[in-house]
Amino acid sequence: MRLGEVTAPRVPRLRTGLGEVDRVLGGGLVPGSLVLLGGSPGIGKSTLLNMVLGRLAGDGRSTLYVSGEESAAQVRLRAERLAGAGGGTPSALEVPILAETDLDTVVATLEAERPDVCVIDSVQTLHDTGLSGAPGSVGQVREVAGRLMEVAKRLDVATVLVGHVTKEGALAGPRVLEHLVDCVLQFEGERERTYRTLRAHKNRFGSTNEAGVFEMRDSGLVEVLDPSARFVGEATRAAGSVVLCAMEGTRPLLVEVQALVSPSELVPPRRVCNGIDRNRLALVLAVLGRHAGLSTSTSDVFVNVVGGVRADEPGADLAVALAVASAARGLVPGAAAGPTPAADAGGDERPPLPVACFGEVGLTGELRAVAHGDRRLAEARKFGLSSVIEPDRCGTLREALRVALPRRR
Ligand code: TYD
Ligand code: MG
Repeated sequence: MRLGEVTAPRVPRLRTGLGEVDRVLGGGLVPGSLVLLGGSPGIGKSTLLNMVLGRLAGDGRSTLYVSGEESAAQVRLRAERLAGAGGGTPSALEVPILAETDLDTVVATLEAERPDVCVIDSVQTLHDTGLSGAPGSVGQVREVAGRLMEVAKRLDVATVLVGHVTKEGALAGPRVLEHLVDCVLQFEGERERTYRTLRAHKNRFGSTNEAGVFEMRDSGLVEVLDPSARFVGEATRAAGSVVLCAMEGTRPLLVEVQALVSPSELVPPRRVCNGIDRNRLALVLAVLGRHAGLSTSTSDVFVNVVGGVRADEPGADLAVALAVASAARGLVPGAAAGPTPAADAGGDERPPLPVACFGEVGLTGELRAVAHGDRRLAEARKFGLSSVIEPDRCGTLREALRVALPRRR
């Protein structure tokens, strides 16, 4: 049979009512599919899934929350917060709960209840008594997921497995699950910060380019519908800070990138980064030293993408370079990069709007174009950031530094 002759039915979707979650899933949960949600402990996986089930229950869908980790009473307390004033998920308490770690009981319950959607929190806590090995061991996790997969397909239950992520960032044990499940989602952020991003790393029913941004509040997670406005509004205007026009999937996102450069006592000096790749930082520092006359070989360098956002893309290079150079020279980016309303008014010491930038830094010190340049520019303009430093404007890193960090007269 030729592929063109194969009938491909349209994939139905269960909309969760949380727009950001639906978008990352590619339009909602697919009945009978298996989704793995990874994230470090305390990041908000249970909260997110309580909300998802609560919304679906409020929509008349049958749901089931299997908790192997927390008692029914603990889950109820969380649901109360979500259902309470300002929680936005009034039906969170409608969701049936099964506090259980025995796989056979869970499977039997699924067969009896046949819910539309089921959450297993977490895959590492369930175990098959017929199998040796502690819960969470590779053998157990594989068996648990395999059985649940079979049940999900047979009964058409959309199943979400929660998986804990180890320090190294791998889904603990369940790396073995990634090829098995239909969709791998990752919930990221820093526990101390309020922002969280949901990303798809694998999706058989949609793109892996989407990301959703949430904020953790007292009453649960709230979708951040316009993260750029949030991050630009909070951006500091000081030496060591620039705004990066990043892409979160198909959506442009403005985030603040900060750097601190200070004399080091250590050999080799410290390189600490949050939200960007260490190797990219090393590359950018090397190019700054070799092609822009800015050596950091005796300095500690710290780089942070504010808000716990990850900017793992080559387009972030220029922002890292400008933030580091600005920190090292003690110059506020864009201090003279064009007249600002405040400067025109005269006498106002207020720093101008932050400088925005994007672009890849090449090994010979050149700036290279990155995908979606026009959309990144448009996003910056939307927030009044008229001074955008990017590869079309500056050909080299040296030139970009000259434009962004003019020396004071
Ligand atoms: P949780 O969803 O239990 O994380 P995970 O399942 O990923 O381990 O929630 C983590 C933290 O979120 C918890 O320490 C308390 C906090 N939290 C809030 O700030 N607001 C809320 O409404 C809820 C339910 C939790
Ligand atoms: Mg949890």
